[in-house]
Amino acid sequence: MSHMRVFITRNIPDIGPAKLRATGWDVDQWHSDEVIPRATLLEKVKGADAILSLLTERIDGELLDAAGSQLKVVANLAVGFDNFAVGEMTERHVIGTNTPDVLTDTTADLAWALLMATARMLPQAQKYVHDGKWTTWGPLLFRGQDIHHATLGLIGVGRIGAAMARRASGFEMKVVYYDAYRRQDLEEKYGYHYASSVEEVLHQADFVSVHTPYMPETHHLINAERLKMMKPTAILINSARGPIVDPKALYDALHNGTIWAAGLDVTSPEPIHMDDPLLTLDNCLIVPHIASASMQTRDNMSELAADNIINVLSHKAPKTPVNKDAVVAQGLG
Ligand code: DGY
Repeated sequence: MSHMRVFITRNIPDIGPAKLRATGWDVDQWHSDEVIPRATLLEKVKGADAILSLLTERIDGELLDAAGSQLKVVANLAVGFDNFAVGEMTERHVIGTNTPDVLTDTTADLAWALLMATARMLPQAQKYVHDGKWTTWGPLLFRGQDIHHATLGLIGVGRIGAAMARRASGFEMKVVYYDAYRRQDLEEKYGYHYASSVEEVLHQADFVSVHTPYMPETHHLINAERLKMMKPTAILINSARGPIVDPKALYDALHNGTIWAAGLDVTSPEPIHMDDPLLTLDNCLIVPHIASASMQTRDNMSELAADNIINVLSHKAPKTPVNKDAVVAQGLG
């Protein structure tokens, strides 16, 4: 076991790398805050038993071939793992892991912050003050949308969607959700309303918050046609993955007043291009994919990713695998 090789693809909070170094294994890290160039990544993973990756690295057949057949685990520092070619990993018996649970509340906090900031026009109001335009109290100044007693529509009510719904209860909001899996437990416990389709949520909601994983079925789930189903006063929040929303259709909807505002933690592409028309809009608040970015949560993600690697390389089941078949194939579960 002493010859295990681990490659970490970026600077991350050191709690995880420190734990990995403490094993005595050969731990190499790309010490940068920028994405590792693909060619360098393919070179660096050669001979690795484990890779600690970010959502910016495509873990596909090319990378798995470059790493070699000794590769046992790729631990993503994210709950989303749409950067994994899961089928190819499983075929090669490479375990993939993610970081669920530890980031749920922090991510929902940011989604909630986007909701509040867009509803009450905080970015525009701050700019107004900074621009020296605040001359008097104004009855018509920055009239936003009420959050309390409004209807929150959730597309997806997994861990983060459910955490978003819990935040809504303090604002006495009605919660309507659509999910492929009906959550009767949540309906009974908290009185959430099940909608039988995405469209039904869009029709009813004052705020639509997207919490579904990104996969071929959810590509441009929020498109021009569906944006037209939203209320003209409605606000769209996306803290899931950028390509779930068609950016061109979103621009048109915001520009034409089809919907009132949007708050985005994620864009398509990412990072957003500086000539993207969404950046010209006052009613589109965009932040750089920071939903899980708190001190504590990023530490917890780093530690969980490292623990997953340590478990697999010590012949124990990983804590949070995404492809259980590979765990079984390695005789760990
Ligand atoms: C995730 O974990 O999937 C987030 O998008 C990264 O914060």
